[in-house]
Amino acid sequence: MSRILITGANGQLGQCFKQIEEQFDLKLVFASRETLDITDQEVVEQELNTHQYDYLINCAAYTAVDAAEENETAASLINEIAVGFISKACKKHSVHLVHISTDFVFDGLKTSPYTAEDATNPQSVYGSTKRAGEERIEESGAAYSVIRASWLYSNVANNFYKTIIRLAQTKDQINVVNDQIGVPVSAHELAKQLLQLISNKKLPTGILHFAHSGHCSWMEFAQKIVEYNKLDLRIEPISTEAYGAAAKRPAYSVMKPSSCFEQIPWEKALKDVVLASKH
Ligand SMILES: NC(=O)c1ccc[n+]([C@@H]2O[C@H](COP(=O)([O-])OP(=O)(O)OC[C@H]3O[C@@H](n4cnc5c(N)ncnc54)[C@H](OP(=O)(O)O)[C@@H]3O)[C@@H](O)[C@H]2O)c1
Repeated sequence: MSRILITGANGQLGQCFKQIEEQFDLKLVFASRETLDITDQEVVEQELNTHQYDYLINCAAYTAVDAAEENETAASLINEIAVGFISKACKKHSVHLVHISTDFVFDGLKTSPYTAEDATNPQSVYGSTKRAGEERIEESGAAYSVIRASWLYSNVANNFYKTIIRLAQTKDQINVVNDQIGVPVSAHELAKQLLQLISNKKLPTGILHFAHSGHCSWMEFAQKIVEYNKLDLRIEPISTEAYGAAAKRPAYSVMKPSSCFEQIPWEKALKDVVLASKH
């Protein structure tokens, strides 16, 4: 039975792994920031020296995209330097590193889906530090699968899906950006497909893209969340410029999924999350 260490286990994706661990014949070990701070090289090295793992899935990250613009040192420490520590330890102890990255490594100037071979050109501190983390992994010599995903949401932790549901409790109307196009990705579906591939020993190495089929704007995503949850909330369009977030985001960040992943329409993935939340 493969043994898998999951870092950043209390975050959104980490919790999605926790929800489904019993469905797989795998031994998952969950480490939160409190028990395993990935920025402490000694702690990382000691964990892999003391326990034998086949895979390490790194869900730990600095994910506050706008705050990163003013906190580059902190973002870089977690998204780049610590990822270097992890990949070195994985190389030394022959652990397959599975690392989650982002569509924000791209500049958003393309008009057709980004492939894993397309040139990166991050536009924000968050995107730059995530790309730098990918580079640390590529240089490390460790066996790795870097999984780029976009617009992650779920029924746990903090994310856009939960925010819309929360806002519907107190507001009649909100403005949502309608000129950024991407693919909402269910963190539950991502966790499930990764564990399926690991179980079947079919997870390819290299840089991989995970996406559902189809695409939409943030406004269309919000409208579907409202519709599927039968919420009483009006969604009005606003431009990226008028919204005025601190970090620049790609206007188009649709990614072509790697062939190892099963593609389902993004609306179907959303319906599954809504249904699961009701049970
Ligand atoms: N959320 C998205 O829309 C999105 C989109 C594309 C890609 N991604 C990527 O997907 C991955 C998972 O994201 P997510 O949505 O699950 O993020 P998340 O909910 O913010 O979870 C990240 C977790 O990492 C932990 N962490 C931060 N610094 C750490 C450290 N030094 N040592 C150990 N743990 C640390 C955080 O702990 P604290 O809560 O204590 O800080 C948090 O529990 C990340 O790599 C992210 O870049 C996310």
